[in-house]
Amino acid sequence: MITGTPFLSAEQIQEKVIELADKISRDYAGKEVIAVGILKGSFMFFADLTRNLDIPVFIDFVISSSYTRTSSTGEVSIHYDIREAIEGKNVLLIDDIIDTGISLNHIREKILSRRPASLKICVLLDKKARRVVDVPVDYTGFEIPDKFVVGYGLDYNNNFRNLPYISTFKKES
Ligand code: IMP
Ligand code: MG
Repeated sequence: MITGTPFLSAEQIQEKVIELADKISRDYAGKEVIAVGILKGSFMFFADLTRNLDIPVFIDFVISSSYTRTSSTGEVSIHYDIREAIEGKNVLLIDDIIDTGISLNHIREKILSRRPASLKICVLLDKKARRVVDVPVDYTGFEIPDKFVVGYGLDYNNNFRNLPYISTFKKES
């Protein structure tokens, strides 16, 4: 059986998104930024965040996967890579959640090897207690406990991504 408990409401998320977008717009004032979303998980957060940015924004994506069911495999594969030339540009990497940090670290290093002018990372959720690799995160929406969550882009086996809110999720047999 599948059970879910509401965790962050759509309103709480939208409030936080605007707060983050304001801060990012202030920090990048007078500059342009390439916003790179990590798919699929970030699609909803990415769309909400970028539409609230008040600076020139170029949009790009990376598709990666590192996750099977509810545990990290520790292996990261990139299925689709950034198409923009990022050398000398300001890159803002946007993801739904940082857990062990393995995926973001892998993508961060790939981007850094292309010598952007700057690279910052923005995540909606941070499960700090689970970190295995130290990754510098510049913008965090919510720090959350070590619970599996779904909704607002986050999935369990590709389900629940479309929910406008975030729920904790437990699979019971
Ligand atoms: P990391 O490499 O362990 O930091 O894993 C990051 C990725 O794992 C995220 O981008 C998500 O796709 C996935 N992930 C981690 N925790 C959760 C969760 O609670 N729910 C859904 N996906 C998660
Ligand atoms: Mg993800």
